[in-house]
Amino acid sequence: MNVEPDLRHHGDAEVRSAGLVDLAVNVRTGTPPPWLRDRLAASLDTLAAYPDGTAARAAVAARHGRPVGEVLLTAGAAEAFVLLARVLRPRHAVVVHPQFTEPEAALRDAGHTVHRVLLAPEQGFRLLSGSVPEDADLVVVGNPTNPTSILHPAATLAELARPGRTLVVDEAFMDTDPGETESLAGTRDLPGRVVVLRSLTKTWGLAGLRIGYLLAPAGLVAELAAAQPLWPVSSPALTAAELCSAPAALAEADAAARSTALDREHLLKGLAQLPAVRVHGEPAASFVLIELPDAAAVRERLRTAGFAVRRGDTFPGLGPDWLRLAVRDRDTTDRFLTALAAAIG
Ligand SMILES: Cc1ncc(COP(=O)(O)O)c(C=O)c1O
Repeated sequence: MNVEPDLRHHGDAEVRSAGLVDLAVNVRTGTPPPWLRDRLAASLDTLAAYPDGTAARAAVAARHGRPVGEVLLTAGAAEAFVLLARVLRPRHAVVVHPQFTEPEAALRDAGHTVHRVLLAPEQGFRLLSGSVPEDADLVVVGNPTNPTSILHPAATLAELARPGRTLVVDEAFMDTDPGETESLAGTRDLPGRVVVLRSLTKTWGLAGLRIGYLLAPAGLVAELAAAQPLWPVSSPALTAAELCSAPAALAEADAAARSTALDREHLLKGLAQLPAVRVHGEPAASFVLIELPDAAAVRERLRTAGFAVRRGDTFPGLGPDWLRLAVRDRDTTDRFLTALAAAIG
């Protein structure tokens, strides 16, 4: 029997019981940094006024080299999925899986039929030419993709752009790739409509504040803005968007991405010592997807040993043999690898 995955399961559900070391949620540890926390605290002095997004929007636009009219600030990238689902009228919507499940859930909630394109582990979850049906007028793809950690070349994604098609690239984790070389955030000359979603909640530890944005042609931004409630992004969240788009913050995020890449190498080396564990493709983000037999039981044993990891079976295209692991500092990873070896038995 084919069981339909629970698209509304997210990693935060795996760490709600206290005391587990969190390898389930991909928010960077030690965040928000003190300087950001201080500025957010100072922004509370302005709470009596209604939010004004002018400065934040300008800062995001400048950061990506785009006109202000092509930026929409949202309550996390998650809000953008809902807005797109409510505003767009796709005839043939395609979601490339395995990927974050909210885009598909939001499209279904809005009454759209969603077609899944499944990328294969044997091909390293790479997007091959011809994978996406030619007549798809809405295509949603993640880059780098959660949970596979695969970074698609910008050129491969650009090839998906077509007149008459809206191509949505979820770049929620792009800032975990040093240099962001495969980002389409600053690209404005592709055919059709290209929408890039960004999140500020992972690198900056602002999941509870809710801040993200999308970049798209001005006409679509205006349509999506009209579907937003009044004042959807709070003043502290706007402060965060402005500050996290400044050059100093970008340099800090890039340094964090480089350090994450080293920590990821350490995790991958340790995983390579475990014969039961397989990693497909080349992970590029702040998490790693692994395949191992009986992963559900291993996950339970890890919980007993004090570690929360993200189940993989709620992602279309995966199943009970998959787990997603957040990249952590080396000490935490070493302790985790010892626990994982014991849990595999
Ligand atoms: C790939 C991906 N996109 C978007 C989101 C939503 O992020 P936000 O917290 O900005 O709403 C998440 C959250 O886990 C995610 O994993």
